[in-house]
Amino acid sequence: MSSPLLLGAEVPDDPPAMARGQQTVAILGSGDFSRSLAVRLVACGVSVVVGSRCVKRIAPGLFPDAVELSSQEGAVVKAQRLVVLALFPEHYPSLLGIRAALAGKVLVDVSNAMELGSGVSSNAEQLAELFPESVVVKGFNVISAWTLQTGTQDGSRQVLLCSDSVEGKSEVAQLARLMGFHPVDSGDLRQSRVLETMPLRLFPSWRGPLLATFLLFLFFYAYGFLRDLLLPYLAHGRDGFHRLALALPNESLPNVALVALALVYLPGLLAAWLQLWRGTKYQRFPRWLDGWLLRRKQLGLLGFLCAALHAVYSLCLPLFLYGPNNWSISLYAVCISQVKAGVEEPWDESGVWRSDLYLSCGVLALGILSLLAITSLPTVGNVLTWREFTFVQSGLGYTALTLSVTHTLVFGWDFAFSPQAYEFYMPPSYVLAVAAPCAVLVCRCILLLPCTSTRLARIRRGWERLGKVSIPLALTVSFKQDKTSLDAGL
Ligand SMILES: Cc1cc2nc3c(=O)[nH]c(=O)nc-3n(C[C@H](O)[C@H](O)[C@H](O)COP(=O)(O)OP(=O)(O)OC[C@H]3O[C@@H](n4cnc5c(N)ncnc54)[C@H](O)[C@@H]3O)c2cc1C
Ligand SMILES: NC(=O)c1ccc[n+]([C@@H]2O[C@H](COP(=O)([O-])OP(=O)(O)OC[C@H]3O[C@@H](n4cnc5c(N)ncnc54)[C@H](OP(=O)(O)O)[C@@H]3O)[C@@H](O)[C@H]2O)c1
Ligand code: HEM
Repeated sequence: MSSPLLLGAEVPDDPPAMARGQQTVAILGSGDFSRSLAVRLVACGVSVVVGSRCVKRIAPGLFPDAVELSSQEGAVVKAQRLVVLALFPEHYPSLLGIRAALAGKVLVDVSNAMELGSGVSSNAEQLAELFPESVVVKGFNVISAWTLQTGTQDGSRQVLLCSDSVEGKSEVAQLARLMGFHPVDSGDLRQSRVLETMPLRLFPSWRGPLLATFLLFLFFYAYGFLRDLLLPYLAHGRDGFHRLALALPNESLPNVALVALALVYLPGLLAAWLQLWRGTKYQRFPRWLDGWLLRRKQLGLLGFLCAALHAVYSLCLPLFLYGPNNWSISLYAVCISQVKAGVEEPWDESGVWRSDLYLSCGVLALGILSLLAITSLPTVGNVLTWREFTFVQSGLGYTALTLSVTHTLVFGWDFAFSPQAYEFYMPPSYVLAVAAPCAVLVCRCILLLPCTSTRLARIRRGWERLGKVSIPLALTVSFKQDKTSLDAGL
């Protein structure tokens, strides 16, 4: 071919054992996946033969010229080892007629499950039952036909593989590497149950954090609606319902951001307290804490989103001012009334200091949170060492939390203690929101005290307290070895 099929096809990291052009790979089926895989394989120098039920039906030019088109059986016979089944699983039984030709071949099952939690065996397991004389390897199902065609930079580079045959898995891994992907060994063929449902799952790790953020928003919005709009309307007939669109979201979003940030740093503290209480790090955390620790990134990013939206909403605030009862009035209306009243120096020294201070803290907090969000991108995070990543995520993260709390406290300190704020026995919403981050910061300070931090550091380096006997660090390794051999003996 005169021009390369794929622009920027990656050179594999490791020299593959399967050299280019040495193997012929068969692909059964002439649909989307087959076409994309064939294009990619040919671009990587692999000979490809496509097996179709009806070769004549394949339109000219659909496959690259280098691809040989054949009957299903003809293609299987030409393949040395690898036969990719680019078919839907319900059509696997139609291959029973060529079972003899498929014997001894490695069948690569690229199919996906139709629904989540069907409970029956996977497509790959059923395929292995249909063709017991072939080796079945599950793989490539998490890669879209589009990724295969456009190059590995545009999609996930990982190809998850599983099979009961180590040899078969390694042959398919070599092919994946040759194509510029990273093969990942996902275990035996039973793991195909998990692999096949992966493409069906929509942001699985985001579900909990999204729900938590949404419920928090709902709570603060409803609370603000009741406290600031509905009750004043019912009690005094004050109509402030225009605040529903801008002021109320701008009150709810930062409160959600604050609580979400507290929820990001709380599980680390709970983990630390648990380790201190147990006197060891060699015990699993409860499942709920494990799950929570794993969702901190998502919670943090959602908190960041809320804070960023709050900052944008706040840009609209100069159009409004809040009167003595926290009622928004137009800035122009205030100017007109001050001119009418002949006010010549409307300068409030302490008010200006306060607003400058809280705004500055808010801007700094948002800036640092942006840094955290940037380092959470895999391309950025991957070039940082573990220590650098922890410095940004943990060190700067706590700084952002402290600045956010300072921003809120400086903004609302006066009003939080004024009797007007408790007209309906409901505190301002930021008083509720700031409680959790304050508690997190206090707990963190306690953990930083030398007595607790030294003990925690020793536990995290392997020191264990067993009953009343403390095991010094130097002995922990041999003790663990003994314990392991004891466990193995049992
Ligand atoms: C905008 C934004 C983006 C974020 N992006 C990311 C991100 O990309 N990745 C990310 O992980 N977090 C992310 N977070 C969440 C948070 O910043 C980090 O998880 C941060 O490291 C938490 O710091 P920490 O001090 O509470 O706990 P850590 O520094 O995680 O933990 C303190 C200690 O607890 C122990 N520990 C923690 N977890 C476990 C565990 N599962 N088992 C045993 N011991 C454990 C370790 O010994 C560790 O040294 C993000 C947050 C925000 C706001
Ligand atoms: N498309 C993707 O992005 C993607 C990504 C990951 C995994 N997959 C998996 O790849 C497999 C194929 O997907 P696809 O998108 O390529 O599907 P497709 O475009 O519909 O192609 C399926 C092919 O199966 C062949 N086939 C063989 N026996 C058949 C029969 N009895 N009835 C109908 N067709 C039969 C047909 O080719 P012939 O007529 O030439 O025989 C047909 O072109 C599926 O299991 C899918 O889950 C697809
Ligand atoms: C560029 C950054 C920021 C700006 C410009 C900003 C601006 C403001 C303004 C003007 C107010 C007063 C709103 C009002 O009068 O009703 C406010 C309140 C508040 N801000 Fe920020 N802020 C920023 C960042 C943050 C961040 C990062 C957080 C926390 C994560 C935060 C949390 C809060 C909270 C909780 C309130 C009180 C909301 C209420 O109940 O009324 N802000 N901010």
